[in-house]
Amino acid sequence: MGQIVFIPRELDPSEPRVAASPETVKRLAGLGFDVIVEKGAGLGSRIPDQDFAAVGAAIGKTADASKADVVLKVRRPTDAELKGYKSGAAVIAIMDPYGNDAAVAAMARAGISAFSMEFMPRITRAQVMDVLSSQANLAGYQAVIDAAAEYDRALPMMMTAAGTVPAAKTFIMGVGVAGLQAIATARRLGAVVTATDVRPAVKEQVQSLGAKFLAVEDEEFKAAETAGGYAKEMSKEYQAKQAALTAEHIAKQDIVITTALIPGRPAPKLVSAAMVASMKPGSVIVDLAVERGGNVEGAMPGKVVTTENGVKIVGHLNMPGRVAASASLLYAKNLYAFLETMVDKATKQLAIKRDDELVKATMLTDGGKVVHPNFAKAAEEPRTEPAAVPATTMVAEAADAKPAARKKAAAKPKGTA
Ligand code: NAI
Repeated sequence: MGQIVFIPRELDPSEPRVAASPETVKRLAGLGFDVIVEKGAGLGSRIPDQDFAAVGAAIGKTADASKADVVLKVRRPTDAELKGYKSGAAVIAIMDPYGNDAAVAAMARAGISAFSMEFMPRITRAQVMDVLSSQANLAGYQAVIDAAAEYDRALPMMMTAAGTVPAAKTFIMGVGVAGLQAIATARRLGAVVTATDVRPAVKEQVQSLGAKFLAVEDEEFKAAETAGGYAKEMSKEYQAKQAALTAEHIAKQDIVITTALIPGRPAPKLVSAAMVASMKPGSVIVDLAVERGGNVEGAMPGKVVTTENGVKIVGHLNMPGRVAASASLLYAKNLYAFLETMVDKATKQLAIKRDDELVKATMLTDGGKVVHPNFAKAAEEPRTEPAAVPATTMVAEAADAKPAARKKAAAKPKGTA
C-alpha cells in the first residue's frame, strides 16, 4: 500500500474550490500515492465524486484525514480539522499566516508540516506552483466580468443605424498578474483601457496589451520596485501626487478596477470617497484588494454598495472562487507540481528535502515547531511590526502580453533570492 493523500471538502461555506482535479489524482496515483477524496469535495467546482473515482480515488469521509500522510487543501485547516490529522502529516494549502500567529502555532502543536503555497518563490522552476499567479489571473478576469455585469451600458463601441454607443472607459489601478489579465479582458470586451502602477517595469507591459499607461513618473517611481519585483509602500508626497493625477482621470471613467497590493502591508488607499463621488451615476468600481483592507474608500467586503450618486462599488470576496471550476483545476496543478518535488521517485515515499529552497520558503511548521523565519520569532514573543515577505527571485510574466514583450520581460530577472 502506498502513502495516503487526502483531499477534504473545504469547510468554509464561501470556498467552492478544491485542491485536486481528476488529472492531478491520476498523477498522484502515478507517483505511488493512494488518494482519498472526501465525498462532495469537488461539487463546488463541478467535479462529481464519480469523476474522482473514475481515475482511481477512493471516496471517503472527514475522518479519513487521520490516515493521511499528505493533506491537500485550499484554506488553512481549522482547529477541528487539525485534531483529525496524524502528527507528522504534510498539509499544503493557502495558509494566509500573516496576522494569524495563533493559528500557525496551533499547526505546530498538531505536529504537522504545514506549507504555505503563497510563499512559493517566483523562480522559473516554481512557476508551475505559483498559486498567487494562477488565482490572481482568474481574479483579474472575473473582476472585469463582474464589472460588465453590474454596468448597465455596453462596453464596446457600437456603430449602428440607430446611433453610436460609446466604448466604456476602463481604468485598471495596480498592474500585477490580476491587473494585466483585467486589461486584456477589458480590451477583449471592447473597452478603452488605461492603467496605472508604481512600478516602472509595468509601463511597457501595459502598452503591449493595447492600453495607455498613466503614472507620476518621478525619481521615487523609478526606484519603486523591490529586488523581489513587488511594489514598495510609497511616500506621503508620492501618494498625494498620485491622487492628484488619478482624481481627474477617475472622474471621466465608467469602470475602475483596483488590484494594488504591497506584500505584508495593508492595501494602499487609491480611490477616495471624493473620487467616487466625482464619477457618473451608473459607473462601476471593483475593488480586488478588499480582503486586504481595500483600495477604495467605501468598499465593503462581500458587498456591492451603491453610493448616493449611483456609483456601484463591488467588494466580492474570493474572486477566484467565482470561477471555481477553472480556478480549482489550476490550483490543483500548482499543488501537485510542488508535492511531486517532495517525493522520492525510487521509494515512492514522501521525502521532504528541508534544505530545498522551495521547502525553506514555504514551510511554516515542522516537527512541532514554527520553523518559518517570518513567524518563528512571533511564536516566542508577540510581534509588533508586520514581518516582511521573503525576498524572492522573479521574472515578469504577462500571460497575455504580446510575445515580444513577454520574452523581454522573461529575460529580465528581477533580483536574486
Ligand atoms: P501584487 O498582487 O503584490 O500587487 C498588485 C500590483 O499593485 C503590483 O503591480 C503593484 O506594483 C501594484 N501597486 C502597489 N501599490 C500601488 C500603488 N500605490 N498604486 C498603484 N499600484 C500599486 O503583485 P503581483 O500580481 O503578485 O505581481 C508582482 C510582480 O511579480 C510583478 O512584477 C509580476 O510581473 C511578477 N510576477 C513574477 C512571476 C514569476 O516570475 N514567476 C509570477 C507572477 C508575477
